[in-house]
Amino acid sequence: MKLPALSLHHHATPFLHKTTALPVSRSSNAPFSVRMSLRDDGPSIAIVGVTGAVGQEFLSVLSDRDFPYRSLKLLASKRSAGKSLNYENRDYTVEELTDNSFDGVDIALFSAGGSISKKFGPIAADKGTIVVDNSSAFRMHEGVPLVIPEVNPEAMDGIKLASGKGALIANPNCSTIICLMAATPLHRRAKVTRMVVSTYQAASGAGAAAMEELEQQTREVLEGKEPTCYIFSQQYAFNLFSHNAPVLSNGYNEEEMKLVKETRKIWNNNDVKVTATCIRVPVMRAHAESVNLQFETPLDEDVAREILSNAPGVVVIDDRAANNFPTPLEVSNKDDVAVGRIRQDVSQEGNYGLDIFVCGDQIRKGAALNAVQIAELLL
Ligand SMILES: NC(=O)c1ccc[n+]([C@@H]2O[C@H](COP(=O)([O-])OP(=O)(O)OC[C@H]3O[C@@H](n4cnc5c(N)ncnc54)[C@H](OP(=O)(O)O)[C@@H]3O)[C@@H](O)[C@H]2O)c1
Repeated sequence: MKLPALSLHHHATPFLHKTTALPVSRSSNAPFSVRMSLRDDGPSIAIVGVTGAVGQEFLSVLSDRDFPYRSLKLLASKRSAGKSLNYENRDYTVEELTDNSFDGVDIALFSAGGSISKKFGPIAADKGTIVVDNSSAFRMHEGVPLVIPEVNPEAMDGIKLASGKGALIANPNCSTIICLMAATPLHRRAKVTRMVVSTYQAASGAGAAAMEELEQQTREVLEGKEPTCYIFSQQYAFNLFSHNAPVLSNGYNEEEMKLVKETRKIWNNNDVKVTATCIRVPVMRAHAESVNLQFETPLDEDVAREILSNAPGVVVIDDRAANNFPTPLEVSNKDDVAVGRIRQDVSQEGNYGLDIFVCGDQIRKGAALNAVQIAELLL
């Protein structure tokens, strides 16, 4: 089955100017001669997990942003070794990931799951490669920066390609990135003391196979057949359920605790109170989150709207009259995180609370784009 929109090339387009034609993509359709990204002074790059949902998006984002590279190595499991992939009008052969894959590699973008990262991340870093890892393997490790470039770029101060030293840098969980893209500009103004997050998470967050399963189940249910449950243990099409991450002894699942712990690390603030409920919804791509914020100092909703309108990587869609607010469909394949439903929390005295609704493409800003932005900070 052809996966929806995984290999398309898109740009961040201003959501509020829908009548404007999409800019012509600087994608692989461009004549090779005009591309400046393949160049002798660029870093050598490896992509680990290139055949997956995030891996494919890495290629799209690198191309869209004209990321410079001297050479490109495409790595996946033995199953994919030998497959041919085209990137910027050149054919590459996918190689099996091995201990020797990182010889001469400057930057490796990892998205092949936690166990692969745990095994091969340190091997790569020991060889002088700077690893940007999408899994949860190193996120909470002391000394490993956990970075959202718009939020805490300072966490990776001193890590530069020019140093020639290997390092590990972690990409936060997709729900954390999308939430903090919107919450941080408000936190900077009024200091968040407590945050309550409820997520509505798409199939794409669970990888390419989960997207296929949602499509297949939808077809099966409409045809009156029993839905095939392979990735998830229960029916996903026309249903929703608690996130499939393992449930911990405190009753939270791992996805929820990632939001709690990662927020504290990224904001460098162990006092902030965070609680979350994570739900998988039958949306193909892009997560939505309802976020309730409590502040140390008052923050008016109009000021909050103004702050968010000026925040990098954020677009406000908040038209009460037209009942038009962010949707996962509208942010799919887009770089920006959309925020709306910006309103004073009536359950709190004074202007100490706000509710917002956030949508973001978690394969893009929640994974591949954020990682490539981290890589840009290395140059
Ligand atoms: N999807 C998201 O939105 C998202 C967001 C943030 C972080 N992440 C993280 O990114 C990682 C990948 O997610 P995904 O959604 O892209 O999953 P996916 O679509 O299932 O892709 C998994 C990738 O890992 C490769 N792989 C599996 N076993 C391997 C092995 N033994 N050696 C080398 N490569 C191997 C696969 O290669 P084959 O094709 O050869 O099997 C494939 O390229 C996970 O750690 C996930 O938690 C995902």
